[in-house]
Amino acid sequence: MPSTPVTLLGLGAMGRALAAALLADGHPVTVWNRTPGRAADLPGAVVAPALADALAAPGPILACLLDHASVHDTLDPVAADLSGRTLINLTSTTPDEARELAAWAAAHGVAYLDGGIMAVPQMIGAPGASILYSGSAAIFDDHRGLLETFGAAEYFGDDAGLASLYDFALLSGMYLMFAGFAHGAALVGSAGVSATEFAARATPWVRAMAAGFAGHAAFIDSGDYRADTQSLAFNKAALDALVRASRAAGVPLTVLGPVKALLDAQVADGHGGESFARIFEGLRAG
Ligand SMILES: NC(=O)c1ccc[n+]([C@@H]2O[C@H](COP(=O)([O-])OP(=O)(O)OC[C@H]3O[C@@H](n4cnc5c(N)ncnc54)[C@H](OP(=O)(O)O)[C@@H]3O)[C@@H](O)[C@H]2O)c1
Repeated sequence: MPSTPVTLLGLGAMGRALAAALLADGHPVTVWNRTPGRAADLPGAVVAPALADALAAPGPILACLLDHASVHDTLDPVAADLSGRTLINLTSTTPDEARELAAWAAAHGVAYLDGGIMAVPQMIGAPGASILYSGSAAIFDDHRGLLETFGAAEYFGDDAGLASLYDFALLSGMYLMFAGFAHGAALVGSAGVSATEFAARATPWVRAMAAGFAGHAAFIDSGDYRADTQSLAFNKAALDALVRASRAAGVPLTVLGPVKALLDAQVADGHGGESFARIFEGLRAG
C-alpha cells in the first residue's frame, strides 16, 4: 500500500496507539498535542511545535481528542485555514455531536468522516480491533487502506452520526455486561469467593448466553413475542428469587433493580406468557 502522510491531533493513550500503528505501517506522521512532550515513545513522528505547523503538513487530518468540546476548542481557532482539507475524527462523540461536527466541517469547506473506535489502545493494529465510520464515503473509499492500519474498517453511510450510534449501542451492552459481572462478583464475594475465581466461570457463561441475542432479535424485529418457553412469568420467578438472594447477601439492587422493573412492567401489562425479549418494548424509542 502506498504511504500517506497523516497529521494526527491528540496524543492521549489512543492517539499514541494510532500514531504507532501508522508509523509501523510506514506512513509519515506529523503529530500535535495540546500539552507538549507526549511523543517520546513515537520515534519517527514529526512533532509539530504548534497546531499551525501540524496543519501545514499534507494529507488527511486525524483527530483523536477527549470529546466533542475538545475538537471545537482545537479546530475553531484555525477553521479558516482548513478549507479543502480532509478531517477524520476518531474522537468519541454522541451521534448528534458527530452530525454537528460534520455540519461545521461542511460550512468551512472541510470533508468529514467520523469514526467510532471499538478497541482499547493495546488492540490498535492487531486482530480484533475495529473502527466504525460514517460521513463522507469519498474519504472512506480514498483512505480505506490507511484506515485498515488500525483494524477492520466498516462504513455505515453518509449520516455522520451513524458510526457513533452503533458505537454507543455496543458500549451500552459492554457497560451493562460489566455491571452485571460486578453484581455477580459481589454476590459470590459475600461468601468469600474471589472475583478472579468468579471471572473464570462468568466468561464462558456470558459468552454462551450471548448466542441468544439472535433469538431475541427475531422476536423484537417481528414484534411477535409469543413463546413456548422462557416466558416473562418464568423469568419473573427467577429474577424475584435473584432479588431476594441479593438482599439476603447484602448486595444492593442498583444494577438488577432496573432489569426487574422492565420485566415487571411487561408482566403487569398482561404479557407474562410472552418471551423475555419483550422487555425491549419498555426501552423502544418513542
Ligand atoms: N482509551 C480507550 O480505551 C478508548 C477506546 C475507544 C475510544 N476512545 C476515544 O478516543 C479518544 C481519545 O482517548 P484517549 O484514551 O487518548 O484519551 P486520553 O488519554 O485522556 O487523551 C485525551 C487527549 O485529548 C486531549 N485533549 C483533552 N481536552 C482537550 C482540549 N480541550 N483541547 C485539546 N486537546 C484536548 C488531551 O491533550 P492533553 O495531553 O493536552 O491533555 C489528550 O491528547 C476519546 O474520545 C475516547 O473516548 C478511547
